[in-house]
Amino acid sequence: MRWLLISKIILSSGYVLLAQTTTTFVVPSAAPSSAVTVDPSLLSVSIEFFAFPGYTELSGTTTCLANIEKLRGAPPAFRIGGTTQDRATFDANLAQPVNYTVASPADAPTTLTYGPSFFTLAGQLAGDVTIGLNRQLNNLNNTRAGAEEAVQCVTGLLALELGNEPDLYSSSSPIAGGASWTPATDGASQKSWFTDLSSSVGDIFQGAVYLQYPRWSIAGLIPILGDAIAFVKTFSGHSYPQSACGGASTNLSNLMSHSGIVSYTSQYAAEAEAAHGVGKSYFLGETNSATCGGGGISPTFGAGLWVMDYVLQGALAGVDRLYFHQGTIGNCAYCFWSTSSVAAPYYGAYFVSEFLGPSSPARLVMLDSGSTSLGVYAVFSGINSAAPRILLYNSAYYSGSGTRSSANIVLSGLGSNLSSVQAKRFTAPSAPALSGQGVTIGGGTFDSSCALAGTQATESVRVSQGTASIGVQDSEAVIVYLS
Ligand SMILES: *[C@@H]1O[C@H](CO)[C@@H](O)[C@H](O)[C@H]1NC(C)=O
Ligand SMILES: *[C@@H]1O[C@H](CO)[C@@H](O)[C@H](O)[C@H]1NC(C)=O
Ligand SMILES: *[C@@H]1O[C@H](CO)[C@@H](O)[C@H](O)[C@H]1NC(C)=O
Ligand SMILES: *[C@@H]1O[C@H](CO)[C@@H](O)[C@H](O)[C@H]1NC(C)=O
Repeated sequence: MRWLLISKIILSSGYVLLAQTTTTFVVPSAAPSSAVTVDPSLLSVSIEFFAFPGYTELSGTTTCLANIEKLRGAPPAFRIGGTTQDRATFDANLAQPVNYTVASPADAPTTLTYGPSFFTLAGQLAGDVTIGLNRQLNNLNNTRAGAEEAVQCVTGLLALELGNEPDLYSSSSPIAGGASWTPATDGASQKSWFTDLSSSVGDIFQGAVYLQYPRWSIAGLIPILGDAIAFVKTFSGHSYPQSACGGASTNLSNLMSHSGIVSYTSQYAAEAEAAHGVGKSYFLGETNSATCGGGGISPTFGAGLWVMDYVLQGALAGVDRLYFHQGTIGNCAYCFWSTSSVAAPYYGAYFVSEFLGPSSPARLVMLDSGSTSLGVYAVFSGINSAAPRILLYNSAYYSGSGTRSSANIVLSGLGSNLSSVQAKRFTAPSAPALSGQGVTIGGGTFDSSCALAGTQATESVRVSQGTASIGVQDSEAVIVYLS
């Protein structure tokens, strides 16, 4: 259903006047059976545990998420957790939400306490809330006290995690009691904690929460849990495609590559299948582009294009939600927003939400092969109705210097009565461009509080005999509105 035509107009001198590939995609008249149903909160957020109360005071937290809610018709879900959940102790007498001391505001605390008002704040969030509590410190009673408070105060509580990335625990973690920590010991520990705490708080746990796939997996955990699967509400895995830890190098061109994203996300299909097989949701419960500061790639426009494509590929691999992690306020390269700025990755989050739209349920299909730099998706709002929107993504890397090529994408199979369609472009002067350096959606931006700034304009594209032709530059994406 797809054909490729490479056209190059070469002058007799051999000079390439126009190096443009033309690729044609047939838009199905209704959702094919392969279309995947998309959760209304597919794009969600994870907030680092100690930083959560601070996030509730940022205008970006409210406005950036309200923008997404308006586009999707449902609020993004929250997961509150991360490394510092396993350093936190509940103090029923603490008046403030959290208490800790750090040498610099850029640091995360090595130990902290939290009080009941932490959960009061979590209870004010719209949408589902998942809260990560401590297991590493091996204080079951204290975690029980925190869990009971959470269940009482958080109206939107979906699930409780017990431990963050326990695959990184070691023999020196208090829970390990000096023994080596393996998938088998962790599985037995999850089973015992779920069993012990379920009598106090119900069958509400988010299981697994592993980072190192596939050695640590949901598929491996399920048989260890046995009957304790009944206490599990949801399953989660963490995912960062790149890392700058220990001086490792990152690569923006690889991050945003469409075929790279297709290949990376496909590894999670087996996890999704395992979770769905026992009737549970499967989330990438904490994810973002690159750990340990992002090595310069995380705040870029290219990372915004990655967010867009990664969310869609995640859905196609069976991931029900992707929770994009937001870390230390003011020291977080991949964060969507900060005290008074909105970063380029958020633009990608907004753009993909606009593409998916408010239709509930949205049904998504990929029209390209997944093996080239071009990504083409159609979204459907019902089983028998035509696609209201198409997303075109040219993931070829444009550094900002030299010629910027353009892919000519032809969409055929459009309604024969259409004479034109509208298109909205997500673009920037280059893939490494930052917010404030020309990153725009239809020419519009977001102001420092995440309110829409300027006007988002669309372009009119001519349709002739059900066929439209749209140019998409390297490192650029376009939504085509068919109705
Ligand atoms: C907050 O933590 C500090 C240590 O970091 C401690 O000295 C102080 O007493 C704590 N405050 C409260 C209200 O618990
Ligand atoms: C935990 O709580 C139980 C019941 O309240 C109590 O019997 C037990 O001693 C406590 N354990 C610890 C380590 O505090
Ligand atoms: C990123 O990887 C690509 C291909 O894998 C390579 O051509 C390019 O030089 C790399 N970029 C950097 C900045 O290392
Ligand atoms: C196309 O237009 C004709 C004439 O206005 C109309 O009869 C027909 O139903 C339309 N077809 C579609 C698919 O909208």
